[in-house]
Amino acid sequence: MSHYWSPLVHSLTPYVPGEQPKLSNLVKLNTNENPYPPSPRAVAAIQREIGNDGASLRLYPPPNADSLKQAVVDYFAEFALTPAHVFVGGNGSDEVLAHTFMALLKHDRPILLPDISYSFYPVYCGLYGIDSITIPLDEHFAIRVEDYIRENGGIVIANPNAPTGHLLPLGDIERLVAGNPQSVVVVDEAYIDFGGETAIGLVRRFPNLLVMRTLSKSHALAGLRIGYAVGDPALIEALERVKNSFNSYPLDRVAIAGATAAMADREYLEKTRRTVMRSREVLVSRLEQLGFDVLPSAANFIFVRHPQRDAAELAARLRERSIIVRHFKLPRIDQHLRITIGSDGQCDLLAAALKEIL
Ligand SMILES: Cc1ncc(COP(=O)(O)O)c(C=O)c1O
Repeated sequence: MSHYWSPLVHSLTPYVPGEQPKLSNLVKLNTNENPYPPSPRAVAAIQREIGNDGASLRLYPPPNADSLKQAVVDYFAEFALTPAHVFVGGNGSDEVLAHTFMALLKHDRPILLPDISYSFYPVYCGLYGIDSITIPLDEHFAIRVEDYIRENGGIVIANPNAPTGHLLPLGDIERLVAGNPQSVVVVDEAYIDFGGETAIGLVRRFPNLLVMRTLSKSHALAGLRIGYAVGDPALIEALERVKNSFNSYPLDRVAIAGATAAMADREYLEKTRRTVMRSREVLVSRLEQLGFDVLPSAANFIFVRHPQRDAAELAARLRERSIIVRHFKLPRIDQHLRITIGSDGQCDLLAAALKEIL
């Protein structure tokens, strides 16, 4: 605390990310990174951008990252988007989310958030002074769409949800969006490639839908920090206004080159996401054999609890074996662990360690 701080800073409760320890031989299953490297075409594009002497880095990047917007349009060719439907942002979808809270969710009425979801959402409410109402998930950790058909200043959900992995079918997303024509519904699809159907196909019919995406998970580019949002051009214009009042060049040259090439390499994405999904099914059945309750997951992580063992203690015992998973000390979920799907080798180590601990 310091008297130099603005009053707002005194009131903030910042987000705490999963740790990034620098231990060797770590089995890191705590922040939902991809166990595989990004597309070789993305890596080659990054190397090309830097070149031998890094000369292009003298220059500021294109402020609108048009090549990346076009890559997003091409990627979703079936939905006939235009670049005006796409916002691309640097520093991950976290920063795109931050702009969204400021641009589209700060109204007189409170926004609606599920009680268990990505815990950055309430942090943005604190940063921007946005009131929110917390809506409990049902007893199976699912969103009940009916609970969200009420007056509100906006709605933010993750689909699949984090940290539960629960997927809301596309029909339910449509009911949610259609039932709230007066406010913006943000659907955060950070994990959708691991088992769900995107809502981007609804964007041209619903001017109040904003779909948030990231290249951090299925495209294995968490280290490059790229996010994007797809929505009606009027929503995108609001995001551009905030972005251009904040930072003209949020995406650097290296990020634009890598992300554009990664979006174009569909085949590689398909291969790696299917591998992760297969590993998930194998890990689920092994943990069930060990007595764990495993929630059905459409994400690159699973959410599990053991009826007889304390979750924090299990996480600590795994840690002694250099295996890191995520435990949230939060109401309703403090007996669960969120475990990222690693490579098959990492999943083997995890299952063997849990068997030994139990
Ligand atoms: C639901 C959800 N949304 C958004 C993000 C942010 O991802 P990034 O900032 O890497 O794009 C995460 C990261 O874990 C997430 O779990």
